[in-house]
Amino acid sequence: MTAFPDITRAWRSLADGAVLLDGFHALKHALRFGAAVPLAVATDRAATLALAEELAPDVGAVLDGLLTEVDEAAYRQLVPRPHPTGVAALAERPDREAALRTLDALPRTAPVVVLDQPRNLGNAGAVVRLAAGFGATGVVTTGPLDPWHPNVVRGGAGLHFATVVERLDVPDLPPGPVFALDAEGEDIRGVRLPDDAVLAFGSERSGLTPELRDRADRLLSLPMRPQVSSYNLATSVAMTLYHWSSQSPAGAPAATGTPAED
Ligand SMILES: C[S@@+](CC[C@H](N)C(=O)[O-])C[C@H]1O[C@@H](n2cnc3c(N)ncnc32)[C@H](O)[C@@H]1O
Repeated sequence: MTAFPDITRAWRSLADGAVLLDGFHALKHALRFGAAVPLAVATDRAATLALAEELAPDVGAVLDGLLTEVDEAAYRQLVPRPHPTGVAALAERPDREAALRTLDALPRTAPVVVLDQPRNLGNAGAVVRLAAGFGATGVVTTGPLDPWHPNVVRGGAGLHFATVVERLDVPDLPPGPVFALDAEGEDIRGVRLPDDAVLAFGSERSGLTPELRDRADRLLSLPMRPQVSSYNLATSVAMTLYHWSSQSPAGAPAATGTPAED
């Protein structure tokens, strides 16, 4: 076991500007999708490696070389909210310029998701997880929410590294036809979403901003009974990405047919 002050010092020197990976599954996903992870700790190294052997053997060797065991007190000093797996790590945030090049590149094989002024960190994390699962090109947020906030990364289960995640202003949105989702739009079921689509969703409280509406090429609605006012933001993204995937077998990933890990 590494001495408590050493690991704390190393952690503190790296933590500023780094991405906190909270728990085993976040670390597993980040490693799988190529994150640079300079430091990882576990309160029970042997148990963590056993979990990796069971659930994620593909990252077992990397974890073995990376994990430092710390006692419970040290772990609690490093993370704001202890995770049940007793695992935490720091990852380098991907380069913004490279991310913007990916978002701007055409032709695109999968849509970009835009969250216009989202407010809820958990929703934003759930959307990153959806984008990763569907192989979307990226998630762009407008407005003050930081899409790399630790609670968004927690909600995204470390899958920020499996897609592109950036904040942009509406005039700087990636190229491509903008399909904005709104309960008053035309029925999405009659519309084919192209692989280069920019799929935009409004904020939890007030929906799409006027600026985003002006930029939209089409407004689309999801099927919903009268008297239901709206769906949850992340749920709306899920339905829309599913709709795209069902029309684009080349762009969308196949169903896995493998058991879920978490
Ligand atoms: C919770 S809703 C926002 C509700 C908000 N009061 C409004 O006026 O739009 C968050 C976002 O999810 C999407 N959404 C929710 N229900 C939808 C529906 N039935 N059709 C299309 N988009 C929907 C929209 O993009 C919406 O801006």
